[in-house]
Amino acid sequence: MIDVERISLHAQGAVVVGAGGGIGAAAARLLAGRGASVFCVDRDGAAAQQTAASIEARSGTALSAQGDVADQRSLASAFEHAVDRFGQVHIVINCVGVQGPLGRRSHEVGLDEFDAVYAINLRGAFLVGQMALPHMLERQYGRIAHVASIAGKEGNPNMIGYSTTKAGLIGMVKAQGKEYAEDGITINALAPAVIRTAFLDTQPAEVVKYMTDRIPMKRPGSVEEVAEMLAWMVSPGCSFTTGFTFDLSGGRATY
Ligand SMILES: NC(=O)c1ccc[n+]([C@@H]2O[C@H](COP(=O)([O-])OP(=O)(O)OC[C@H]3O[C@@H](n4cnc5c(N)ncnc54)[C@H](O)[C@@H]3O)[C@@H](O)[C@H]2O)c1
Repeated sequence: MIDVERISLHAQGAVVVGAGGGIGAAAARLLAGRGASVFCVDRDGAAAQQTAASIEARSGTALSAQGDVADQRSLASAFEHAVDRFGQVHIVINCVGVQGPLGRRSHEVGLDEFDAVYAINLRGAFLVGQMALPHMLERQYGRIAHVASIAGKEGNPNMIGYSTTKAGLIGMVKAQGKEYAEDGITINALAPAVIRTAFLDTQPAEVVKYMTDRIPMKRPGSVEEVAEMLAWMVSPGCSFTTGFTFDLSGGRATY
Protein backbone atom coordinates (compact mmCIF):
# COMPACT_ATOMS: atom_id res chain seq x y z
CA MET A 1 0.00 0.00 0.00
CA ILE A 2 1.30 3.50 -0.81
CA ASP A 3 2.02 5.60 2.26
CA VAL A 4 0.75 8.94 0.92
CA GLU A 5 1.91 10.68 4.09
CA ARG A 6 5.47 10.26 2.79
CA ILE A 7 4.82 12.33 -0.33
CA SER A 8 2.01 14.56 0.89
CA LEU A 9 2.99 18.11 1.82
CA HIS A 10 -0.20 18.72 3.72
CA ALA A 11 0.07 21.46 6.39
CA GLN A 12 3.66 22.29 5.46
CA GLY A 13 4.99 25.79 4.86
CA ALA A 14 7.13 26.23 1.76
CA VAL A 15 9.13 29.11 0.36
CA VAL A 16 9.90 28.96 -3.36
CA VAL A 17 12.48 31.50 -4.48
CA GLY A 18 12.41 32.31 -8.19
CA ALA A 19 8.71 31.39 -8.25
CA GLY A 20 7.84 34.07 -10.80
CA GLY A 21 8.31 31.87 -13.85
CA GLY A 22 9.62 28.71 -15.45
CA ILE A 23 10.66 25.93 -13.10
CA GLY A 24 9.97 27.91 -9.90
CA ALA A 25 6.36 28.64 -10.86
CA ALA A 26 5.75 24.98 -11.77
CA ALA A 27 7.32 23.85 -8.48
CA ALA A 28 5.21 26.31 -6.47
CA ARG A 29 2.04 25.05 -8.14
CA LEU A 30 2.87 21.39 -7.57
CA LEU A 31 3.78 21.90 -3.90
CA ALA A 32 0.46 23.66 -3.39
CA GLY A 33 -1.31 20.81 -5.18
CA ARG A 34 0.30 18.40 -2.71
CA GLY A 35 -1.06 20.43 0.21
CA ALA A 36 1.68 22.92 1.10
CA SER A 37 1.08 26.59 1.81
CA VAL A 38 3.46 28.27 -0.61
CA PHE A 39 5.21 31.60 -0.25
CA CYS A 40 6.33 32.73 -3.72
CA VAL A 41 9.40 34.98 -3.83
CA ASP A 42 10.90 36.55 -6.93
CA ARG A 43 12.95 39.58 -7.91
CA ASP A 44 9.96 40.34 -10.09
CA GLY A 45 7.31 40.86 -7.41
CA ALA A 46 4.44 41.05 -9.91
CA ALA A 47 5.43 37.67 -11.40
CA ALA A 48 5.59 36.10 -7.93
CA GLN A 49 2.15 37.53 -7.23
CA GLN A 50 0.83 36.03 -10.47
CA THR A 51 2.05 32.55 -9.51
CA ALA A 52 0.44 32.91 -6.08
CA ALA A 53 -2.81 34.05 -7.71
CA SER A 54 -2.78 31.03 -10.05
CA ILE A 55 -2.44 28.75 -6.99
CA GLU A 56 -5.26 30.49 -5.15
CA ALA A 57 -7.42 30.19 -8.26
CA ARG A 58 -7.09 26.40 -7.89
CA SER A 59 -8.04 26.58 -4.21
CA GLY A 60 -4.46 26.32 -2.99
CA THR A 61 -2.87 28.51 -0.34
CA ALA A 62 -0.23 30.97 -1.53
CA LEU A 63 1.26 34.33 -0.69
CA SER A 64 3.98 36.28 -2.40
CA ALA A 65 6.64 38.91 -1.88
CA GLN A 66 9.28 40.65 -3.91
CA GLY A 67 12.73 39.38 -2.93
CA ASP A 68 16.13 39.54 -4.60
CA VAL A 69 18.71 36.86 -3.69
CA ALA A 70 21.46 39.35 -4.50
CA ASP A 71 20.15 41.68 -1.79
CA GLN A 72 20.37 40.33 1.76
CA ARG A 73 17.87 42.80 3.19
CA SER A 74 15.18 42.16 0.62
CA LEU A 75 15.56 38.37 0.97
CA ALA A 76 15.47 38.57 4.78
CA SER A 77 12.30 40.62 4.65
CA ALA A 78 10.61 38.05 2.35
CA PHE A 79 11.61 35.16 4.66
CA GLU A 80 10.43 37.01 7.77
CA HIS A 81 7.12 37.62 6.07
CA ALA A 82 6.80 33.90 5.22
CA VAL A 83 7.59 32.79 8.80
CA ASP A 84 5.22 35.39 10.16
CA ARG A 85 2.35 34.12 8.01
CA PHE A 86 3.02 30.36 8.04
CA GLY A 87 4.58 29.90 11.49
CA GLN A 88 6.91 27.17 10.27
CA VAL A 89 8.76 26.91 7.00
CA HIS A 90 9.43 23.20 6.39
CA ILE A 91 10.55 23.54 2.78
CA VAL A 92 12.72 25.93 0.82
CA ILE A 93 13.28 25.54 -2.90
CA ASN A 94 15.69 27.88 -4.64
CA CYS A 95 15.07 28.04 -8.38
CA VAL A 96 16.89 31.29 -9.06
CA GLY A 97 19.55 31.25 -11.75
CA VAL A 98 20.86 33.51 -14.48
CA GLN A 99 22.94 32.45 -17.44
CA GLY A 100 25.25 35.43 -17.64
CA PRO A 101 27.49 35.92 -20.66
CA LEU A 102 27.12 33.24 -23.35
CA GLY A 103 29.22 32.35 -26.38
CA ARG A 104 32.46 33.91 -25.14
CA ARG A 105 35.59 32.27 -23.79
CA SER A 106 36.77 33.10 -20.28
CA HIS A 107 39.32 35.74 -21.26
CA GLU A 108 36.59 37.68 -23.05
CA VAL A 109 34.30 37.85 -20.02
CA GLY A 110 34.45 40.97 -17.84
CA LEU A 111 35.00 40.60 -14.11
CA ASP A 112 31.85 42.62 -13.48
CA GLU A 113 29.88 40.19 -15.65
CA PHE A 114 31.31 37.21 -13.77
CA ASP A 115 30.60 38.85 -10.41
CA ALA A 116 26.99 39.52 -11.40
CA VAL A 117 26.37 35.82 -12.10
CA TYR A 118 28.17 34.82 -8.89
CA ALA A 119 26.06 37.25 -6.82
CA ILE A 120 22.85 35.55 -7.93
CA ASN A 121 23.68 31.89 -8.62
CA LEU A 122 26.11 31.12 -5.79
CA ARG A 123 26.20 33.92 -3.21
CA GLY A 124 22.41 34.11 -3.57
CA ALA A 125 22.04 30.37 -2.92
CA PHE A 126 24.27 30.70 0.16
CA LEU A 127 22.07 33.54 1.40
CA VAL A 128 18.91 31.46 0.90
CA GLY A 129 20.48 28.85 3.18
CA GLN A 130 21.38 31.48 5.74
CA MET A 131 17.76 32.61 5.89
CA ALA A 132 16.34 29.09 6.16
CA LEU A 133 18.83 27.21 8.34
CA PRO A 134 18.47 28.96 11.74
CA HIS A 135 14.69 28.59 11.49
CA MET A 136 14.94 24.88 10.55
CA LEU A 137 17.60 24.19 13.20
CA GLU A 138 15.29 25.46 15.93
CA ARG A 139 12.64 23.00 14.78
CA GLN A 140 15.05 20.19 13.87
CA TYR A 141 13.29 19.72 10.55
CA GLY A 142 13.83 21.06 7.08
CA ARG A 143 14.08 20.25 3.41
CA ILE A 144 16.16 22.54 1.19
CA ALA A 145 16.52 22.02 -2.57
CA HIS A 146 18.57 24.15 -4.95
CA VAL A 147 18.30 23.95 -8.73
CA ALA A 148 21.82 23.63 -10.14
CA SER A 149 22.46 22.45 -13.70
CA ILE A 150 24.18 19.78 -15.70
CA ALA A 151 26.52 22.65 -16.70
CA GLY A 152 27.85 22.50 -13.14
CA LYS A 153 28.58 18.78 -13.41
CA GLU A 154 30.06 18.78 -16.90
CA GLY A 155 31.41 22.31 -17.32
CA ASN A 156 29.77 23.78 -20.42
CA PRO A 157 32.24 25.87 -22.43
CA ASN A 158 31.55 29.51 -23.28
CA MET A 159 29.27 30.02 -20.30
CA ILE A 160 31.94 30.27 -17.66
CA GLY A 161 30.00 32.22 -15.05
CA TYR A 162 27.08 29.80 -15.24
CA SER A 163 29.14 26.57 -15.26
CA THR A 164 31.40 27.77 -12.44
CA THR A 165 28.65 28.99 -10.13
CA LYS A 166 26.48 25.90 -10.68
CA ALA A 167 29.51 23.69 -9.86
CA GLY A 168 30.04 25.84 -6.75
CA LEU A 169 26.40 25.32 -5.81
CA ILE A 170 26.85 21.53 -6.06
CA GLY A 171 29.92 21.81 -3.78
CA MET A 172 28.03 23.98 -1.30
CA VAL A 173 25.22 21.44 -1.09
CA LYS A 174 27.70 18.59 -0.48
CA ALA A 175 29.26 20.46 2.44
CA GLN A 176 26.00 21.73 3.93
CA GLY A 177 24.35 18.32 3.67
CA LYS A 178 27.04 16.97 5.99
CA GLU A 179 26.93 20.00 8.31
CA TYR A 180 23.23 19.56 9.11
CA ALA A 181 22.88 15.79 8.69
CA GLU A 182 22.11 15.22 12.37
CA ASP A 183 19.57 18.05 12.61
CA GLY A 184 16.69 16.60 10.61
CA ILE A 185 17.55 18.94 7.72
CA THR A 186 18.34 17.67 4.24
CA ILE A 187 19.99 19.87 1.63
CA ASN A 188 20.12 18.63 -1.94
CA ALA A 189 20.52 19.96 -5.45
CA LEU A 190 19.06 19.06 -8.81
CA ALA A 191 21.00 19.12 -12.08
CA PRO A 192 18.63 19.37 -15.06
CA ALA A 193 19.72 19.24 -18.68
CA VAL A 194 17.83 21.52 -21.02
CA ILE A 195 14.23 22.17 -19.98
CA ARG A 196 11.50 23.61 -22.18
CA THR A 197 10.88 27.13 -20.89
CA ALA A 198 10.12 30.45 -22.54
CA PHE A 199 13.89 30.93 -22.98
CA LEU A 200 14.19 27.80 -25.14
CA ASP A 201 11.43 29.07 -27.40
CA THR A 202 13.60 32.10 -28.23
CA GLN A 203 16.53 29.95 -29.38
CA PRO A 204 17.17 29.08 -33.04
CA ALA A 205 16.03 25.57 -34.03
CA GLU A 206 19.64 24.43 -34.63
CA VAL A 207 20.64 25.46 -31.10
CA VAL A 208 17.73 23.51 -29.63
CA LYS A 209 18.66 20.51 -31.81
CA TYR A 210 22.29 20.67 -30.68
CA MET A 211 21.19 20.61 -27.04
CA THR A 212 18.58 17.87 -27.38
CA ASP A 213 20.78 15.63 -29.57
CA ARG A 214 23.02 15.10 -26.56
CA ILE A 215 20.08 13.79 -24.55
CA PRO A 216 19.39 10.07 -25.09
CA MET A 217 15.61 10.74 -24.85
CA LYS A 218 16.11 13.30 -27.67
CA ARG A 219 13.88 15.95 -26.12
CA PRO A 220 14.07 18.69 -23.53
CA GLY A 221 12.54 18.06 -20.11
CA SER A 222 9.39 19.86 -19.05
CA VAL A 223 9.00 22.19 -16.08
CA GLU A 224 6.43 19.73 -14.71
CA GLU A 225 9.05 16.96 -14.74
CA VAL A 226 11.46 19.20 -12.83
CA ALA A 227 8.72 20.08 -10.34
CA GLU A 228 7.95 16.38 -9.74
CA MET A 229 11.55 15.68 -8.79
CA LEU A 230 11.73 18.78 -6.57
CA ALA A 231 8.48 17.86 -4.81
CA TRP A 232 9.92 14.43 -4.03
CA MET A 233 13.22 15.91 -2.82
CA VAL A 234 11.43 18.13 -0.28
CA SER A 235 8.90 15.54 0.86
CA PRO A 236 9.05 13.78 4.24
CA GLY A 237 9.69 10.54 2.32
CA CYS A 238 13.02 11.76 0.98
CA SER A 239 14.64 11.36 4.38
CA PHE A 240 17.90 9.45 3.87
CA THR A 241 19.50 11.56 1.11
CA THR A 242 21.41 14.76 1.75
CA GLY A 243 24.30 16.59 0.12
CA PHE A 244 23.34 14.93 -3.16
CA THR A 245 22.75 16.27 -6.64
CA PHE A 246 19.83 14.52 -8.30
CA ASP A 247 19.95 14.00 -12.06
CA LEU A 248 17.23 15.13 -14.48
CA SER A 249 18.78 14.82 -17.90
CA GLY A 250 16.84 12.28 -19.97
CA GLY A 251 19.72 9.84 -19.63
CA ARG A 252 22.56 12.23 -20.50
CA ALA A 253 24.32 12.20 -17.12
CA THR A 254 24.46 8.67 -15.78
CA TYR A 255 26.69 9.55 -12.83
N1 LIG B 1 15.59 26.06 -18.23
C1 LIG B 1 16.59 25.21 -18.36
O1 LIG B 1 16.84 24.62 -19.43
C2 LIG B 1 17.46 24.93 -17.17
C3 LIG B 1 18.37 23.87 -17.23
C4 LIG B 1 19.17 23.61 -16.14
C5 LIG B 1 19.06 24.37 -15.00
N2 LIG B 1 18.19 25.40 -14.96
C6 LIG B 1 18.11 26.20 -13.74
O2 LIG B 1 16.80 26.16 -13.25
C7 LIG B 1 16.50 27.36 -12.54
C8 LIG B 1 15.22 27.99 -13.09
O3 LIG B 1 15.40 28.18 -14.47
P1 LIG B 1 14.23 28.70 -15.42
O4 LIG B 1 14.55 28.24 -16.77
O5 LIG B 1 12.92 28.39 -14.82
O6 LIG B 1 14.52 30.26 -15.36
P2 LIG B 1 13.56 31.52 -15.50
O7 LIG B 1 14.43 32.63 -15.95
O8 LIG B 1 12.36 31.16 -16.31
O9 LIG B 1 13.10 31.76 -14.00
C9 LIG B 1 13.99 32.21 -13.03
C10 LIG B 1 13.23 33.10 -12.07
O10 LIG B 1 14.17 33.64 -11.15
C11 LIG B 1 13.92 35.02 -10.99
N3 LIG B 1 15.15 35.71 -10.60
C12 LIG B 1 16.22 36.03 -11.36
N4 LIG B 1 17.14 36.65 -10.63
C13 LIG B 1 16.66 36.74 -9.37
C14 LIG B 1 17.14 37.29 -8.16
N5 LIG B 1 18.31 37.92 -8.13
N6 LIG B 1 16.40 37.16 -7.03
C15 LIG B 1 15.19 36.56 -7.08
N7 LIG B 1 14.66 36.04 -8.21
C16 LIG B 1 15.38 36.13 -9.33
C17 LIG B 1 13.41 35.49 -12.34
O11 LIG B 1 12.66 36.69 -12.21
C18 LIG B 1 12.56 34.30 -12.78
O12 LIG B 1 11.22 34.40 -12.35
C19 LIG B 1 17.73 28.25 -12.71
O13 LIG B 1 18.56 28.11 -11.57
C20 LIG B 1 18.42 27.66 -13.93
O14 LIG B 1 19.80 27.92 -13.91
C21 LIG B 1 17.37 25.71 -16.02
